Amino acid sequence: MKLLITNIDQLINVRAVSKVLRGKEMAELPVIRDAYLWIEHGLIREYGEMSALKPHDATEVFDAAGASILPSWCDSHTHLVFAAGREEEFVDKIKGKSYAEIAANGGGILNSARKLNAMTEDALFELAWNRLSELMRLGTGAIEIKSGYGLCTEGELKMLRVIQRLKKESPIPIKASFLGAHTYPAVYKDNHQGYINEIIHQMLPAIKAEGLADYIDVFCEKGFFSPEETETICLAGIQQGLQPKIHANQLTLSKGTQTGVKLGAISVDHLETMDEDSIQSLANSSTIGTLLPTAAFFLGMPFQPARALLNAGCALALASDFNPGSSPSGNMNLVVCISCIQMKMLPEEAINAATLNGAYAMGLGNELGSITPGKRANLIFTKPISSPAYLPYAFGTNLIDKVMVNGVFI
Ligand code: NIG
Ligand code: FE
Repeated sequence: MKLLITNIDQLINVRAVSKVLRGKEMAELPVIRDAYLWIEHGLIREYGEMSALKPHDATEVFDAAGASILPSWCDSHTHLVFAAGREEEFVDKIKGKSYAEIAANGGGILNSARKLNAMTEDALFELAWNRLSELMRLGTGAIEIKSGYGLCTEGELKMLRVIQRLKKESPIPIKASFLGAHTYPAVYKDNHQGYINEIIHQMLPAIKAEGLADYIDVFCEKGFFSPEETETICLAGIQQGLQPKIHANQLTLSKGTQTGVKLGAISVDHLETMDEDSIQSLANSSTIGTLLPTAAFFLGMPFQPARALLNAGCALALASDFNPGSSPSGNMNLVVCISCIQMKMLPEEAINAATLNGAYAMGLGNELGSITPGKRANLIFTKPISSPAYLPYAFGTNLIDKVMVNGVFI
């Protein structure tokens, strides 16, 4: 199929070739006005100004009639597979309890683990499939999904098998991260080494045997996994072919960033609590810093220091962290808004972080994240907008008109 899209008001994030963007580069968002776009067999073939459009042999022509087009959101950090919401904890937080207090009393991740272990694989798949379908309609065109609510071999494998089924049945690319080290389950409360042994000697070999994961994740945080424990677990994951992708510096200066950088992590994620040493360590590495502003928003925490990270020259991605405890929304449009409003990211920086750098943060930079020949035609068609900045500016307004996946409208 050769599809020609004509009369595009603004074709956003157009790049002949693409690479990870760092520091100042993130403020450049190339746009072509009054453009056309060629799609062949689900891939972007060519683009240009309407005035340069030559006679063609398209099998189908679609008149965008003034819509703008940008690459789909690439959401590189989610916990999309879960059994139920935790709105009762939300109310406890409104009444004054902190995330850490709720977790220490058996709520939080342990609450989600109890519910997940009581649910069948089919039921979990059904719930996750519905969430994924909803996110695709909100413009997400690639996604990473973690385990981490099983906290036992059987439960973790069940989650990863659900993610594998989503991979097989969904039209958008999905990456799987093994997050067995999300918290210590109750049975191992006083025997941390016992749980680490289960992760290394039971979970990881089984995951490898079934090819269930792409990345190894650890919640490196005070009260969860120490930098040393994080390193031990990640090294075992690396031996099984999994690259680290770490929860770092969310609640405290956990040294998660330095640990991730040392281990060659593809990304270190969260970064609410950073000092100069953590920022410099990230800036001097090829690890991407993935900011999760909706988690800071939902937990009422200080936002990630995006400007300091950009000034230091870091490569930043933005992701939703969709999960029942700290970010019960996977809406990337909202993530981009909050990044501009609360973290003072420029709209150009936020859009690059949520598209191109998000794709690189899950190893999909050569396939997605920009309007580049050869990349997948996973695209957002907007309602009329005066400039890309209108997207985060008009917060709460749904500006998505249509969504395309692999060259087909969904
Ligand atoms: O990324 N902080 C660790 N993990 C998740 C929250 C998980 C939960 O509360 O269920 C996060 O915020
Ligand atoms: Fe997370």
